Amino acid sequence: MSQTKENKIKGIVLAGGSGSRLYPITKVYSKQLTLIYDKPLIYYPLSILMLGGIKDILIISDENTIPLYQKLFDDGSQIGISIDYAVQEAPNGIAEAFIIGEEFIGGNSVSLILGDNIFYGDLNFFYRALKRNGGATIFGYKVNDPERYGIVEFDAEDKVISIEEKPAKPKSQYAVPGLYVYDNRVVDISKSLTPSARGELEISDVNSYYLKKGDLHAEKISRGVAWLDTGTPEALLQASNFFGVIEERQGLKVACIEEIALYKEFINKDEFEQIIKKMPKSLYREYLYKLLVELNQQSIGTFS
Ligand code: DAU
Repeated sequence: MSQTKENKIKGIVLAGGSGSRLYPITKVYSKQLTLIYDKPLIYYPLSILMLGGIKDILIISDENTIPLYQKLFDDGSQIGISIDYAVQEAPNGIAEAFIIGEEFIGGNSVSLILGDNIFYGDLNFFYRALKRNGGATIFGYKVNDPERYGIVEFDAEDKVISIEEKPAKPKSQYAVPGLYVYDNRVVDISKSLTPSARGELEISDVNSYYLKKGDLHAEKISRGVAWLDTGTPEALLQASNFFGVIEERQGLKVACIEEIALYKEFINKDEFEQIIKKMPKSLYREYLYKLLVELNQQSIGTFS
């Protein structure tokens, strides 16, 4: 599924949902706009797609929140990518993203990331999935509280045996994080689904379909990678503290989309400088400016 002319990989960030667990914050704006240390939550999943080299991205959210995302990212051209927006009328399920995104996906493959999923560390598991030809790729991440997630069960050879959505008695401790890579069939598969008992088009049903066809790949993510929860106020605080520690220690920002755009050569140094010039005085701007100075001194060690 490498990004050839015929078959690009498009990216979708699903950033709607009711967010009722985080009320009253979510009475005013969507969960994915809450602050994780020094930037909105959605920066983290968006940056994962960008690091994967994905430049065509669709953000799906509710009608009220889309204008806020547009204010945040515009059409993406400033950071050398293309961002489209689409409305999900109601939280009808994660798989609905592929129905809403049908036109955007066209004849291509697609990677979906949930707007509240944060990954940090070696992303090779994702890069490998983007290179795979056809089928679906999901991941497995060992967690303490498997009943809260989609669960993947592996056999002794790490082949998938089953996929279950929030089972009362989980068959494994491997949760399926909200990052997926699919071939183009995902659109038709999603259209063929019927809503689950909770009234949603379940992503686990999409994955079970691929499993039945023998086209589901699953890779365990190593414990060195952090996949953080953002479901509760406590989890949000923990995520903020986590990135506060990392960023302060290294003097490097995580999920800084302008830095990633430069690193991935989506923009050149002049364009990077223009972004900085337009930015209000802030610690974020100071950080980008410092990168520019370092770059001008030919010491791009920050990216190694
Ligand atoms: O985080 C990983 C888990 O995400 C997976 O292990 C599960 O298989 C998957 O079903 C999902 O479970 P959650 O219970 O976390 O899903 P939730 O309803 O909380 O939605 C996840 C995000 O997607 C959340 O930020 C809201 C957004 N969303 C969700 C639905 C159902 C939408 O934008 N639209 C929707 O229709």
